[in-house]
Amino acid sequence: MASKLLSLLAALPICINAAPNLLPRQDSGNTATVDLSVGARRGAPQNLASGVLYGIPDDPTQIPDNFYSDMGYNYARIGGAQLAEGGWSEGIDAYYARFNNTRDNYIQARKFGAKVIVLPHDIWGTDHANDSTVWPGDNGDWTNYDQYLDQLLGDLKANDMLDGLVYDTWNEPDGGYFWKRSQAQYLDLWSRTYQRIRQDSDLSGVWISGPSYAGTPNTGNDWWTNWAARIVADNTIPDQYTWHDEPGDVAVDIPQWQSIQSQYSLPNKEININEYATFDQQISAGAAWWISRLERYNLRGLRGNWLSGWQLRDFLASLLTKTDTNDYTGTGYAGNGEYNVYKYYYNNMTGERATTTSTGDGVMDVYATVGTDKARVLTGVLNQQGTWFITLNNLSALGLSTSGVLNIQTWGFDDAGHFGAVAGPSDRGVYGHQYDGDTVTFPVYQTSQDENTAWGFEFAVGG
Ligand SMILES: *[C@@H]1O[C@H](CO)[C@@H](O)[C@H](O)[C@H]1NC(C)=O
Ligand SMILES: *[C@@H]1O[C@H](CO)[C@@H](O)[C@H](O)[C@H]1NC(C)=O
Ligand SMILES: *[C@@H]1O[C@H](CO)[C@@H](O)[C@H](O)[C@H]1NC(C)=O
Ligand SMILES: *[C@@H]1O[C@H](CO)[C@@H](O)[C@H](O)[C@H]1NC(C)=O
Repeated sequence: MASKLLSLLAALPICINAAPNLLPRQDSGNTATVDLSVGARRGAPQNLASGVLYGIPDDPTQIPDNFYSDMGYNYARIGGAQLAEGGWSEGIDAYYARFNNTRDNYIQARKFGAKVIVLPHDIWGTDHANDSTVWPGDNGDWTNYDQYLDQLLGDLKANDMLDGLVYDTWNEPDGGYFWKRSQAQYLDLWSRTYQRIRQDSDLSGVWISGPSYAGTPNTGNDWWTNWAARIVADNTIPDQYTWHDEPGDVAVDIPQWQSIQSQYSLPNKEININEYATFDQQISAGAAWWISRLERYNLRGLRGNWLSGWQLRDFLASLLTKTDTNDYTGTGYAGNGEYNVYKYYYNNMTGERATTTSTGDGVMDVYATVGTDKARVLTGVLNQQGTWFITLNNLSALGLSTSGVLNIQTWGFDDAGHFGAVAGPSDRGVYGHQYDGDTVTFPVYQTSQDENTAWGFEFAVGG
């Protein structure tokens, strides 16, 4: 029913002038654009957003491999979080419970060529620690932490875990949960860890990442500015800059980050938003919105993970469900609505990336590719209902006429909740849009029936 209604609504765009009362005024605030010209292409897709925080079961073969390969899984971030055994802070056996879990996850992730971020704060056991337990560098004594680094780095080497490895110095030291000591003690940990890793030639291929702050970059946040000053002073600049957007918006973060960067003369490095999206944004529409924004700024990203206990280490961060979601060992996995968005992003959006702009209000965003057969536009409206528009410019660059009728196929990436299986996108039909001036504009209806649906728009390129 919902899809019937939508295809009726989809027939409206041709009537934009005839039925002005049914459509809001179209302007830059509610319109996203795609420039299809050859000069504005942005290289082959690398699926920058297809990383996942945790989400691999303790028995790493439990989720069948095709669920990883079908979505272009390419970045892991692991450390045995929320295991009953509390890590290094509870002794060597608890340490090995978490290290072994990390090793088993690493082996699984590497099967798909994923880079793997290890989380030393997890292997330390910060989720079992509190103000009264021991933390690295307490009272100026780093002996225990140095032993920890020797143990962990030694085990990473001994277990052949250096390929594709990223060492994420300490998770969210600014967030209050995973670091219970001062900013100054954290900055000392940063320099000490960096220098320890870089003085070991066996580890020269291992990337160091950070600061993985919970707070987004801001020139008024002294966790950011003091860190920037310190890494310049000590020459401990990481290989990858990282932070979290939960919530957050990279369109806001990037200018702020660039101010910090220029103020402290920090070199360009890859940026990884190694936790993105809140739980309510983890819907099909939210996935498309995040993919669009990460791709625009060429940022790597890993989905945040809002499940708890063993479920945190299963379900690929709320992309999968299974017949019995309370069964730790259960089989019978299926993808949810969001999973289909990642599948389409990886398998179907081939060719070259086009230049896009978000709607001015930031609510809807688009990611577009030009393939040899079709051009494809993935679209997500973030947690709102209403009508937005997409303008496709420079159609003639695809060998199409500068005026005529453009037949656009719509796919609906339906969403049935975090644990709701969805077999695949629904076919919402083909509609012919009349256009001239080498440009076409069409509306996107985010109705209550399609509250969380993402959209795929496809049309054939000319010969
Ligand atoms: C169309 O393509 C030309 C050439 O690349 C470019 O300069 C222009 O900005 C594009 N137009 C739009 C509206 O994107
Ligand atoms: C960790 O793995 C090693 C090697 O497989 C094994 O000998 C050890 O018992 C494991 N330790 C724990 C705590 O699981
Ligand atoms: C802190 O953690 C330790 C070790 O788990 C525990 O014994 C202690 O009761 C905790 N203290 C507080 C104040 O929660
Ligand atoms: C995406 O590509 C797959 C594999 O080529 C194909 O089976 C599927 O029909 C395509 N999906 C859509 C929505 O075009």
